[in-house]
Amino acid sequence: MCIPSPWRNDMRFERREILKEKPAAGTQLGFGRYFTDYMLTMRYDRARGWHDLAIVPNEPVGFDLASAVLHYGQGVFEGMKAFAADGGRVALFRPEENWARMQRSCARLCIPEIPIDALEEGLEQLLLLERDWIPAGEGTALYIRPAIVATRAELGVHASSEYLFFAILSPVGSYFEDARPVNLLAEDTCVRAVVGGTGEAKCLGNYAASLYAAALAQQKGFDQVLWLDADHRYVEEVGSMNIFFATKDEVMTPALVGSILPGITRKSCLELLRAEGVKTCERRISIEEVMEGISAGEIVEAFGTGTAAVITPVGRITYRGKEAVLAGGGKFTEYLLGEITGIQHGTRPDRFSWRKVFGTAH
Ligand code: COI
Repeated sequence: MCIPSPWRNDMRFERREILKEKPAAGTQLGFGRYFTDYMLTMRYDRARGWHDLAIVPNEPVGFDLASAVLHYGQGVFEGMKAFAADGGRVALFRPEENWARMQRSCARLCIPEIPIDALEEGLEQLLLLERDWIPAGEGTALYIRPAIVATRAELGVHASSEYLFFAILSPVGSYFEDARPVNLLAEDTCVRAVVGGTGEAKCLGNYAASLYAAALAQQKGFDQVLWLDADHRYVEEVGSMNIFFATKDEVMTPALVGSILPGITRKSCLELLRAEGVKTCERRISIEEVMEGISAGEIVEAFGTGTAAVITPVGRITYRGKEAVLAGGGKFTEYLLGEITGIQHGTRPDRFSWRKVFGTAH
């Protein structure tokens, strides 16, 4: 739901004296290593509500060390990508989905409702200002990280009365260092989230909770953790992406039972496949079923989906010492990667009007 915005023509702009040097063409951008000159900010307090929408230099901000987010993790974030469009314009992929999810995450974390229309407009202005930072290489984009953190300096455990919204921009390449299919460890001790918890919100704590098992998995040579549910039985997600499995003629993904992030790329893949008449299924999928399905040659593809990860093929899954090996790609993986990136870059027909292009063409 949008609340009326009082800012439309009243956005503050603070100029930066010296602009940063942009990464040279051909630089391996990696993920989230470079940041643009400006960011979008907005503040909240009880007296003024959300106010002071501003484009300001992206520089370190002062934080009171008693700020609620630093102690109790009250904060949410999103991930979006911007692409260059014809005539100096800019394109976003389904931004309304991200804002709506952010609103839901805010509700779960007791953060006041955000004025989506003001943020949308502020972000568009920021992206037009920073357009020259959009990288040109294949597989690159300008990643957008909007976030809201609790800034009230008070140690009582309750919802903060003050917040900072910010959106920072980062020219990125691939999320994963290597181009090879990822090697997953199905985690049967730690859990990322439980039904009734915050797993379906994009909140800070979910990611902090995932680090320990991820570090152990990486020490053992795995790329990522494949999270199971609280009973260590059903597959949930990968933390940085949702997970899909495919037989020769059906594509399935875990149902959104409450502990899984409702990914926008996940939703888009299901919609694309359904439009093509491919049989899709959202249901509980046990890890036993996955391991047996791969070993028996029935499950022939697995891939992760996410804004950062786009469509990432899975090459291996290990569970309780047994490894199941996949081809690391396949017809559904290739189709979805081609369609999603094609729509994002404007090179394939956008039959669902997912690509939002803005700015004046010159
Ligand atoms: C995204 O895909 O945008 C994410 O936020 C996942 C990860 C980078 C934290």
